[in-house]
Amino acid sequence: MKKSMLVLLALSLTAISGAALAETPKEKGPEFIRFKMKDLELPFKHWKHQKNLNNECFHCHNTTLGKIDGWGEQTAHRLCISCHELEDKGPVYCRQCHVKKKK
Ligand code: HEC
Ligand code: HEC
Ligand code: HEC
Repeated sequence: MKKSMLVLLALSLTAISGAALAETPKEKGPEFIRFKMKDLELPFKHWKHQKNLNNECFHCHNTTLGKIDGWGEQTAHRLCISCHELEDKGPVYCRQCHVKKKK
């Protein structure tokens, strides 16, 4: 019972990522995304994340690829920090993500 639920879940996740990929097949987006916040910035390694996550875009883009709906502080924190906590990898403290701009 439990096992079949997992299979179903895996299948539906594949379907979602497949649909998202079908829309813009080759568009990987930028290699780096530099989020800017006043005198701080956050260099985000987009491609490295894609690679680490087996190119499963749906971890961050749940329906379409590109701009994420309602992107901003809350969405970002929910998305980014929860995965890092779950994986026990990647930054979870403010100053690990929000660093001083390089001159
Ligand atoms: C770990 C999270 C994460 C993963 C995984 C991820 N992305 Fe993104 N991606 C982002 C974020 C964050 C943005 C910026 C969102 C925004 O500004 O609204 C973005 C933006 C984009 C953009 C739009 C860039 C622009 O400026 O218009 C494209 C295209 C894109 N991603 C494609 C992909 C594809 C294709 C995959 C899977 C191979 C993928 N992403 C996987 C986080 C991710
Ligand atoms: C689904 C899981 C997942 C999501 C979502 C995610 N990350 Fe990560 N992130 C990781 C993992 C795993 C690592 C560790 C990579 C390693 O050690 O090789 C990491 C590492 C990082 C690092 C350390 C430097 C680097 O790139 O190796 C930064 C900075 C980072 N993430 C920023 C972000 C930001 C900003 C977001 C949200 C836009 C985000 N991450 C979303 C899984 C995720
Ligand atoms: C995993 C990385 C990560 C961690 C950890 C993190 N943040 Fe963020 N934070 C982000 C991202 C990504 C954004 C969205 C940037 C954008 O709007 O494009 C953001 C946005 C913000 C903003 C809004 C800034 C603006 O100009 O819109 C504030 C304030 C903020 N964070 C404070 C904090 C504080 C305080 C902590 C610690 C409790 C923290 N952050 C931890 C990634 C992180």
